[in-house]
Amino acid sequence: MTDVIELSGLTKAFGATVAVAGLDLAFAAGARHAVIGPNGAGKTTLLHLISGELRPTSGRIRYDGRDVTRGSRVKRSRLGIARTFQQPTVWSSLSVADNVALAAWPHTPARGTWLRSRYRSLAEDCGRHLETVGIATLAGRPAGALSHGERRMLDIAMALAAEPRVLLLDEPAAGLTEHGVERLLTALRALPPEVTVVVVEHDFAFVSALADTVTVLHDGRLLATGTPAQITADAAVRAAYLGDLDELGDLDELGDLDRVGEAGGPHVAGEAV
Ligand SMILES: Nc1ncnc2c1ncn2[C@@H]1O[C@H](COP(=O)(O)OP(=O)(O)O)[C@@H](O)[C@H]1O
Ligand SMILES: [Mg+2]
Repeated sequence: MTDVIELSGLTKAFGATVAVAGLDLAFAAGARHAVIGPNGAGKTTLLHLISGELRPTSGRIRYDGRDVTRGSRVKRSRLGIARTFQQPTVWSSLSVADNVALAAWPHTPARGTWLRSRYRSLAEDCGRHLETVGIATLAGRPAGALSHGERRMLDIAMALAAEPRVLLLDEPAAGLTEHGVERLLTALRALPPEVTVVVVEHDFAFVSALADTVTVLHDGRLLATGTPAQITADAAVRAAYLGDLDELGDLDELGDLDRVGEAGGPHVAGEAV
């Protein structure tokens, strides 16, 4: 498989805090690649660097073979990198369908000229993104009236409206009910296979159900990369997260990695891998 995104020596420092520290990592085209790690590991910063919200202190980002390290967020989004945020942002007073159509607008060829007819056909076309995420029946509803889970689905539909090749999701399952997580998994599985999905998530059960590749970050460094099964079995990961294995049991039974990190397992980042 070819790599659609390649990071080399990627580093982001905020003053004395090095949020991402010399990361070498590649995302294969069409992968379902999860990035996990405790709070403060640098996961959100990593997504910000890939999408162009932040500029790296040093290192390189290649997308589809070209260097986009200095490219703006807007340019990267036009090239096919879309993302969602930890807090979904929608236009509350507008309908669900209008939200998606407005998200699609900057990616249409005639974006410079406002044409009502064009907008209408765009809004119709956006129905398929609402279908992908399972909220087509809510198209006419004001976005402000949606539940938390529905708003997350809308946020993903808005990202899809850009017809991305790479979709970056920051904790999409956070705050969802069990049913909401199921709906989210169904929606993400319905994405076109050629779209590369990079998902930051805490819930390891969710990660195992979705991802073919898992990367563990710790203090901005790469602790391990592998299949969910390899990560579960990885000694360094287990040591970092689990501390006393006998007491805590299997990684995939634990779900919330943050809680495990806070429980005070030994910190092995920097030594391992
Ligand atoms: N804008 C910022 N200014 C200063 N420090 C930041 C900023 N963003 C993140 N950090 C710090 O960088 C580290 C990584 O943060 P973040 O990427 O949000 O981690 P995660 O998403 O894994 O919880 C943390 O120590 C955080 O406090
Ligand atoms: Mg985060």
